[in-house]
Amino acid sequence: MESTILVTGANGQLGSEIKEAAANSACRYIFTDVADLDITCQETVRSYLSKLKPEIIINCAAYTAVDKAETDAELAGLVNEQAPRILAQESAAIGAKLIHISTDYVFDGMAWKPYSEDAAVNPQSVYGATKLAGEQACFAGNTQSMIVRTSWLYSRHGANFVKTMIRLGKDRESLNVVSDQIGSPTWAADLAQALVAVAEKISAQPKLFVPGIYHYSNEGVCSWYDFAVKIHQLDGISCKLSPIPGSLYPTPAKRPHYSVLDKTKIKEIYGVQIPHWEASLVKCIYQLNS
Ligand SMILES: NC(=O)c1ccc[n+]([C@@H]2O[C@H](COP(=O)([O-])OP(=O)(O)OC[C@H]3O[C@@H](n4cnc5c(N)ncnc54)[C@H](OP(=O)(O)O)[C@@H]3O)[C@@H](O)[C@H]2O)c1
Repeated sequence: MESTILVTGANGQLGSEIKEAAANSACRYIFTDVADLDITCQETVRSYLSKLKPEIIINCAAYTAVDKAETDAELAGLVNEQAPRILAQESAAIGAKLIHISTDYVFDGMAWKPYSEDAAVNPQSVYGATKLAGEQACFAGNTQSMIVRTSWLYSRHGANFVKTMIRLGKDRESLNVVSDQIGSPTWAADLAQALVAVAEKISAQPKLFVPGIYHYSNEGVCSWYDFAVKIHQLDGISCKLSPIPGSLYPTPAKRPHYSVLDKTKIKEIYGVQIPHWEASLVKCIYQLNS
């Protein structure tokens, strides 16, 4: 019998891409967002899960306003820590596996080589701290949890760096972009495809599920400035871009200087193939202009 896969926070960037990636899936996908299933309410989650009985839950819901979280720690904690705890406890109660999405912001960004899954964490922001607490809550509540940390997510949905650079690039003659923060952009459509592939694999053969932390971003490394240059080049925008240090663009939440993720584990365990960020950016810009 086909597995049921519940996706929470499904109206966000990643959830919207999972809807598309799962369109031809052999599994039965149920997509919910806060209006249908508020994952901060334990009673609601318990009742929903006991009726639906999904085999797998993919939690894309999060409080993602990184700067706002600095002054809104309570809500960030509720969505990023308490909700995963509830999902973990209630998924364990029905024997479901939990796939939860996390972030490169759990690291302090002081490394000089890609972060492996077991590298020391040291979040520098409220957002990062609440996401880390959410990871820990998943494992505490459900041993059958898989955490997928990602970075620099963008897509045609929602607000993100690619859409902001296109909008500002068309409005302005020049822009300063931070060049001393290094990471890997991730097209949400690629991550969505990887998650759907993993979910299908483990629903067909549950023994292939290996709980634990995984990293996924697109291949390749760049600065925000490099990323902006490529976005403008691909979209035919002629705005003058200048590299600046992060110190000249202060934000309420501290950003990691270096947040490149080592993706060896997800490639080896689940056979995931990861496109280079430039190839995926071409596809996203094409989508945005179609
Ligand atoms: N965006 C990035 O650059 C980035 C980078 C690294 C990791 N991540 C992680 O990747 C995951 C997906 O991010 P995303 O960019 O797709 O996020 P997103 O676009 O902000 O989507 C999150 C979704 O969760 C919903 N949500 C909020 N509170 C909820 C609740 N109580 N119950 C159910 N749903 C709720 C949101 O609804 P509302 O919009 O109505 O609040 C939204 O639809 C998150 O775990 C995030 O931390 C993101």
